[in-house]
Amino acid sequence: KKRLTVLGIETSCDETAAAVVSGPDGKTIRSNIIRSQIEAHLAFGGVVPEIAARAHIEVLDDIISQALRDAECDWEDIDAIAATAGPGLIGGVIVGFMTAKAIAMAAGKPLVAVNHLEGHALTARLTDDLDFPFLLLLVSGGHSQFLLVRGVGDYERLGTTIDDAVGEAFDKTAKLLGLPYPGGPAVEQMAGRGDAGRFALPRPLLDRPGLDMSFAGLKTALRTQAKKLEPIDEQTVCDLCAGFQSAVANVLAARTSRALDMFADRFPDQPKTLVVAGGVAANGEIRKSLLQACEAAGARFVAPPMKLCTDNAAMIAWAGIERLAMGPVDHMDMPPRPRWPL
Ligand code: KG4
Ligand code: ZN
Repeated sequence: KKRLTVLGIETSCDETAAAVVSGPDGKTIRSNIIRSQIEAHLAFGGVVPEIAARAHIEVLDDIISQALRDAECDWEDIDAIAATAGPGLIGGVIVGFMTAKAIAMAAGKPLVAVNHLEGHALTARLTDDLDFPFLLLLVSGGHSQFLLVRGVGDYERLGTTIDDAVGEAFDKTAKLLGLPYPGGPAVEQMAGRGDAGRFALPRPLLDRPGLDMSFAGLKTALRTQAKKLEPIDEQTVCDLCAGFQSAVANVLAARTSRALDMFADRFPDQPKTLVVAGGVAANGEIRKSLLQACEAAGARFVAPPMKLCTDNAAMIAWAGIERLAMGPVDHMDMPPRPRWPL
């Protein structure tokens, strides 16, 4: 296969990112620049779409130049441009995808419109030796789902959350406990000093068949506990965070065991592999529980490095390379989309 060098652009939420990746043979992340907007949104306790879009406009050109500089690349070295075309906050997606279109047109390079979720789904193939099929657990701020990944562009959803996404539950829990946005890292940090056994929190839906999950009830139970104890001291916040995190880890691990059984039914002759992706995959305790579930099932567990679990542009460039490796692509006519199921 021809080795390609692709510029990736990611602007679908609150990180402005650009990266240069080469592959599919001799796969290399040559640069990976991420500029977080967290500070611009901090006062609002969450991402404000209009502020996000404007912040992307302000820095994207610089981020792209920096990605090329770090990779020691000229435009001549770039074979294609890959950018997130959805799903996400539409203002931000428009900024990144239209910038990519303009570059592709001016430089006469092919444009790949990348689905952000596909970026997360394929990241593990950039960082590890990994063949299809595999089972993917995608857990981010907007998504919580089990996917059967049969090939590039060949996905089947096996189960999903019926209410909040896992990352969303972390963010809401943090907010109600007075912790800063984004909630995941804040909750994990407090949980590290907490006693998970102090509060009995529910494991929603665990007795139900299938792979669907629910996290809204967990958050409500936590709010009820917190209300009872008001004003809550720091140790109580730590204990509540630990209880919450351990409930989420339990639910995800139990669902993973069942998902691996389903995978084995579908592909009896294939080795079982679970890949975890999305921002919540950065959580140490969740990783540990998933690893244990995999070990018990005799499955391989693959988790990309933390920096590639949360939003980044290397995963977008890589998804572009995977698409281009299957044949020529020209997505100049594609619109940016707020919703785009895999
Ligand atoms: O994939 P991502 O960077 O953005 C998208 O949603 O696409 O995921 C962000 C989500 C946020 O909800 C954040 O709170 C959560 O991932 N997150 C974590 C951790 N780091 C980020 N959740 C739990 N533990 C963490 N260490
Ligand atoms: Zn994401």
